[in-house]
Amino acid sequence: AAAYDFVVVANRLPVNRVSDDDGATSWQRAPGGLVTALAPVMESADGAWVGWAGATDEELEPFENGGISMVPVPLTESDVNLYYEGFSNSTLWPLYHDVIVAPEYHRTWWDSYRKVNQRFADAAAAAAAEGATVWVQDYQLQLVPKMLREARPDLKIGFFNHIPFPSVDLFAQLPWRKRVLEGLLGADLIGFQRPGDAANFLRSVRRILGVTVRGQQVHVQDADGNPERIARAEAHPISIDTESITRLANDPKTQERAKEIRRGLGNPDVVVLGVDRLDYTKGIRHRLKAFSELLDDGRLEVGGATLVQIASPSRERVGEYMKLRDEIELTVGRINGEHDTVAHTAVRYLHHSYPFEEMVALFQAADVMLVTALRDGMNLVAKEYIAAHTDNKGALVLSEFTGAADQLKHAYQVNPHDIADLKDTIVEAINAPDAEASRRMRIMRRQIVTNDVARWSRKFLESLAKSDADISADA
Ligand code: G6P
Repeated sequence: AAAYDFVVVANRLPVNRVSDDDGATSWQRAPGGLVTALAPVMESADGAWVGWAGATDEELEPFENGGISMVPVPLTESDVNLYYEGFSNSTLWPLYHDVIVAPEYHRTWWDSYRKVNQRFADAAAAAAAEGATVWVQDYQLQLVPKMLREARPDLKIGFFNHIPFPSVDLFAQLPWRKRVLEGLLGADLIGFQRPGDAANFLRSVRRILGVTVRGQQVHVQDADGNPERIARAEAHPISIDTESITRLANDPKTQERAKEIRRGLGNPDVVVLGVDRLDYTKGIRHRLKAFSELLDDGRLEVGGATLVQIASPSRERVGEYMKLRDEIELTVGRINGEHDTVAHTAVRYLHHSYPFEEMVALFQAADVMLVTALRDGMNLVAKEYIAAHTDNKGALVLSEFTGAADQLKHAYQVNPHDIADLKDTIVEAINAPDAEASRRMRIMRRQIVTNDVARWSRKFLESLAKSDADISADA
């Protein structure tokens, strides 16, 4: 069997299946910061990526793509229903995003979550060489660290939670809260986006497991007779591949496309942009409300300002997502019915996903970007918008409830629940004097040029590689 020194475990493999005209299928690298950051590490360290290929009821052999060995984990239709749409996205997702919608607790979903996590852990255990480093990603796989340690005590195990970790008062609702915390504590290092997420986790560990916590260190007793072990929780804010976005942004083709997009919108004075997965955490309704009230009030005018809202399809079989789509499409229809003229539309709503090149052109075409998430682990779109503006033009309105708000202090920060403030802030961003706008953009650009996704993964892996001696020296 193949044995890899570095193994990433994530719900999804970083590839998409594409089929050509003859119906032959092949794999194409999925866009995304994580795989871009990890690809060089994978190539130099003999790495493998364990994950789901996206279809159901198919057994795929391991394959190679772009220098990475892909190890597919199969999911049945029922696994997708109970583990992915159920426990991951109708229990954990809403619970970890501060209960914006009510989480559902079902024992059958939990059983499936455990079973599927065990399958991922088994696949990782089979792929990892003696003493290898395994890095488990995100909330879908929180039980994998412990399962993996039980099978393979020789491994270095890291975990990174890409979404928020809630306060203990919310987390305590989870009927399986102890099992989840114990699952995570199987890792040597547990990474979070914000210091507050790490603090919430450590507070839950202390309160719910009654385990000793010293600073960022948790003293873990795996089983009777085993020596005590230290697991650490740290904040490691993720970022983007700033360099490749900069390269695309400087490409004349992208800049031409950005102009074409503005022409296509009828050359309004102001293009306002929202780009999100269609998800209730993103505050799309709050944004639409603020924008439509600005039109009602006459502070913005149709034809003068256009809101382009890209809502990429996501988790479409989950009830709350279907409901949200209906609500948003009803709202957009109402706003446009009310405000459109024959020549101009108020909100250009697109329920599609686009290739990355097109996204960079859209970012460039936008004078103001609206990121109004009610809760978001990081929000990479905010960082991508900054990276796309190599000319330092544009303005970012950014919710304080995102991880990105920690790094992008010079954005126009808002509380998206405060519609009056959101409206004023949008107007302020639109009317910002050029010098002020570009001063803010320049500072934020510098931030993300230095703190890119390659640095994020390097910092995490350096910390994970610390020996027990380094760790007690830190204490
Ligand atoms: C968030 C999660 C990821 C997830 C992505 C897309 O960013 O943190 O783990 O992959 O959303 O969602 P999906 O359910 O389509 O994988």
